[in-house]
Amino acid sequence: MWPERKEPISPDQRALRPRTTCADRRPGVPGLPRRWMDAENEQGVAGVGTGMQTWEAITSRRNVRSFADRPIPAADLDQILEAGRRSPSSQNWQPWDFILVTDREQLRELAKVWRGASHVAGAAAAIVVIGPPADNEFGRAQLDLGQATMAMLLAATDLGIGSCHAGVTDTQLARELLGFPDDRTWALLISLGYPVDRPLAPIRNPRRRPFGEVVHRGRW
Ligand SMILES: Cc1cc2nc3c(=O)[nH]c(=O)nc-3n(C[C@H](O)[C@H](O)[C@H](O)COP(=O)(O)O)c2cc1C
Repeated sequence: MWPERKEPISPDQRALRPRTTCADRRPGVPGLPRRWMDAENEQGVAGVGTGMQTWEAITSRRNVRSFADRPIPAADLDQILEAGRRSPSSQNWQPWDFILVTDREQLRELAKVWRGASHVAGAAAAIVVIGPPADNEFGRAQLDLGQATMAMLLAATDLGIGSCHAGVTDTQLARELLGFPDDRTWALLISLGYPVDRPLAPIRNPRRRPFGEVVHRGRW
């Protein structure tokens, strides 16, 4: 039984409250700490091991643009990509492809596809999210690509890995560097790496419009 709640609890208070999570209630995987769960895909086991609960990852994610000179383990990169692959999409059409880049020279070149993409040059890795043109019915591809992107950002945060978006305006340069087909005309970069400054931790006061201004109940 939940104790009777006297006052509404704000999302920030909720973030700081000790919780019992689904992971705590699940039976453990033999040989692994209780909160570690494994999930299999065609590549074998992926998604083993997690350092954070979902709410911690949501409240800790922020764009990180300065990265430590330390590679990300291949299994962690695969876990992040797997989070994208598992994302929901309209009619499950999965309009995305992901190109993983870890080569330093290639990252430096990729950083030139948009003036806001300079952080990609110093990242440990980048995931290029590729999709179809934006003129599809009700912009559903872009919604789906956004969801896949967010899933990967949260999966990265969960692993203590910082991330940052970057748009792509020079699609032709991106195509030359990455070789994706002509019918894929939309691309977005996610740079990844360990934060060079402070580690990822829940942010008490994010730079966001106030809760009461954003949330409308019943009608506008
Ligand atoms: C679609 C999209 C494109 C973005 N493009 C860039 C970019 O090109 N360069 C960059 O440094 N940040 C980019 N960002 C990051 C935003 O500036 C950032 O999310 C926002 O300022 C909020 O900061 P926070 O995520 O750290 O809270 C982009 C974010 C989104 C969602």
